[in-house]
Amino acid sequence: MNAPILVTGGTGTLGRHVVPLLRAAGHPVRVLSRRGGPPGDGVTHVTADLLTDTDLTPALRGAATVLHLAGGAKGDDRAAANLVRAARRAEVTHLVHVSVTGADRVPLAWLRSKLDAERAVADAGLPWTVLRAAQVHDLVLRMLTAMTKLPVAPVPVGLRLQPVDAAEVAARLVDLTLGPPAGLAPDLAGPATLGLDELLAGYLAATGRRRLRLPVRLPGKAGRAYREGANLARPGATRGVRTWDDFLADRLRSGVGQP
Ligand SMILES: NC(=O)c1ccc[n+]([C@@H]2O[C@H](COP(=O)([O-])OP(=O)(O)OC[C@H]3O[C@@H](n4cnc5c(N)ncnc54)[C@H](OP(=O)(O)O)[C@@H]3O)[C@@H](O)[C@H]2O)c1
Repeated sequence: MNAPILVTGGTGTLGRHVVPLLRAAGHPVRVLSRRGGPPGDGVTHVTADLLTDTDLTPALRGAATVLHLAGGAKGDDRAAANLVRAARRAEVTHLVHVSVTGADRVPLAWLRSKLDAERAVADAGLPWTVLRAAQVHDLVLRMLTAMTKLPVAPVPVGLRLQPVDAAEVAARLVDLTLGPPAGLAPDLAGPATLGLDELLAGYLAATGRRRLRLPVRLPGKAGRAYREGANLARPGATRGVRTWDDFLADRLRSGVGQP
């Protein structure tokens, strides 16, 4: 049997797409998360908290390739450093990590933590690949749903996003994971760059609602960075194919994202 590929965060939004693709390519998969999940054909689960568990040896046993997707609102730098220590001990031969577009250019604490996580991977002394991806459609839909809960929707002025399909990010991650270590890969973003105001207007129209829109100027250096597009993919990025409109229409047809 092949060595298992360890996928941290394999139960999350991206992980749920990644795991079946790795299985389809013939690889056993070991998923690491805090809550675990049901075992499946060729899929096993280990439970561990990357922020607090100091002994990740069982999770890494026999795994040569690690795809690190686990992430949260904070502490991704510490989680990555913890995983890297264990990966080094296990002599992993390919460590792959997903980060966020603009991690190196927007001065916000959570993005600094993403950048530090990238650095932990790059400085591990192991063969590595990092992919910075734009916000996936599912996340953008969650943002818009939250923004329209109240009668007045605050809209950060000048904020643009490049929504990308989670399945396309997963497919790229799987290609990178099964390919040779690539270092910092070209960014991956969706096919279009859309203002948050446009996304909101489209979402309201598609769900047949009206909201007062309150333009908000994001403060400080981070606000300026967003207005200058520092969160967008770097030149030379790979662009996904599936559009936001297509995703939204599908979701609304199936009742997801409806008020
Ligand atoms: N979603 C996006 O738009 C997007 C775009 C670019 C990059 N990314 C990055 O891609 C990664 C995955 O994103 P996602 O949207 O798939 O996230 P998600 O849906 O929130 O899933 C997070 C996964 O990580 C696990 N996890 C979280 N904290 C953990 C911890 N301390 N120890 C072990 N497992 C932990 C979660 O399972 P448990 O809760 O059971 O632990 C879950 O499996 C993140 O690093 C994110 O920053 C996401």
